[in-house]
Amino acid sequence: MDQKVFFIKTFGCQMNERDSEIMAQSLSNHGYVEGMDINGADLIILNTCSIRAKAEQKVMSMLGYLRKTKIKKPDLKICVAGCVAQQEGKKIISKMTHVDLIVGTQNIYNIGELLNNVSINGPQVITHLEDKYDIPNLIPDLSPATVPFRKFVTIMQGCNNYCTYCVVPHTRGREVSRKVNDIIDEVAILVKAGVKEITLLGQNVNSYGKTNSVSDFSGAYSFSDLLRDVSKIEGLKRLRFTTSNPKDLTDELMRCFEDIDNLCHQFHLPVQAGSDSVLKKMNRKYTVDQYLTQVDKLRQYCPEIALTTDVIVGFPGESAQDFEGTMNLLEKVQFHGSFSFKYSDRPGTRAIVFEDKIEESVKSERLARFQARQGEISLNRNREYVGKTKTVMVEECSEEGVKSRTETNHIVHCAKTTELKPGDCVDVTITHAGRHSLKGQLKPLR
Ligand code: SAH
Ligand code: SF4
Ligand code: F3S
Repeated sequence: MDQKVFFIKTFGCQMNERDSEIMAQSLSNHGYVEGMDINGADLIILNTCSIRAKAEQKVMSMLGYLRKTKIKKPDLKICVAGCVAQQEGKKIISKMTHVDLIVGTQNIYNIGELLNNVSINGPQVITHLEDKYDIPNLIPDLSPATVPFRKFVTIMQGCNNYCTYCVVPHTRGREVSRKVNDIIDEVAILVKAGVKEITLLGQNVNSYGKTNSVSDFSGAYSFSDLLRDVSKIEGLKRLRFTTSNPKDLTDELMRCFEDIDNLCHQFHLPVQAGSDSVLKKMNRKYTVDQYLTQVDKLRQYCPEIALTTDVIVGFPGESAQDFEGTMNLLEKVQFHGSFSFKYSDRPGTRAIVFEDKIEESVKSERLARFQARQGEISLNRNREYVGKTKTVMVEECSEEGVKSRTETNHIVHCAKTTELKPGDCVDVTITHAGRHSLKGQLKPLR
């Protein structure tokens, strides 16, 4: 009989989500199916993220809770994966003796075999990071009943940028690009199976092709080339990508928004701060002016492009004036949306030893001010859509209504007037704007 695996996911990045899918797939070849709850599980995988504060404590307290579950069911296997596992694996297993397997970020592809090994040899910590390797191919086995309408496809792993606050280069290793043909083949298989939307994934997709895969590209093939090639795959309705570092954003890539039909008019371009001295201390390698020039150019190539960003407030040494710089940048760009965070010390990063750490109360005040203003701007931005007709892709359709998404990544809710399925594209007239979503009316199908 099938064994059941249950995933406990902490909210990480999309790569972390994709890792859960990869582990589920690897495990399905070893007789596991995904279960719906902790109690019925034979294997629990805690997939962790360590990007911000208290990640380790949260993992430890969850594992503390799972100790009781294991006492009740001694055959249960407990595995910790993801970025906390990568960095803190040895510490975790020494304190939490009921954990069976720690699997690092590059070691998830054969988690099935690793678990077999645990059954024979007892608990293991498998967290080696290679500098140069080919990203493995796990071509998904998609049965028609379970084909999702959208999928993430990994194009790179790791990061070489060493922003001084960031744990990712330490948890994911060196930046490695996946082979072009492997990416194209995977997307083609997914689209043929019925997937309508693909998001290409990497921590820094703009530097695709420059880095350490075994099959070296030596800069001859860029991310723009990849976008163009993927976009031509027949049947692909929507193409997105994430994430970009402004330091590697080229004109060639911006031009893609002008002339690739199925590339969605949305760009997530994390700025982090609106002060040159803070950007320098963060090791971001661009200035506020350079960022603003990129925004102008993107809007020239694609006037309707919806821009979103990430911002950190309270970076060590951030003065009141530096923070005003971030507020000014928000006013100038009028982002459609943003993710903003209070700076937190992360293990292994350079900023840990920076002086002039900002007090928690000041960070909270700055974050609240930024988020309040962003909320107003998002609402104004969303109001620009009212009265317009947009093509949306359906995500859910039930008696309660239709949830869908525009190319610009805005969620639109409509009343259901006809039977629709996820992945269908229909036109809606936008009737109402909120901060986080829009409401609309479905146009009759032609
Ligand atoms: N690769 C992406 C970001 C990945 S991490 C990029 O280069 O932009 C996602 C976001 O988490 C970052 O953009 C940053 O805003 C935030 N973040 C990362 N480390 C952080 C830290 N130590 N404290 C607070 N926020 C952090
Ligand atoms: Fe972290 Fe910077 Fe790499 Fe993004 S580019 S993952 S913020 S080190
Ligand atoms: Fe978190 Fe690791 Fe992603 S730290 S954001 S899961 S790369």
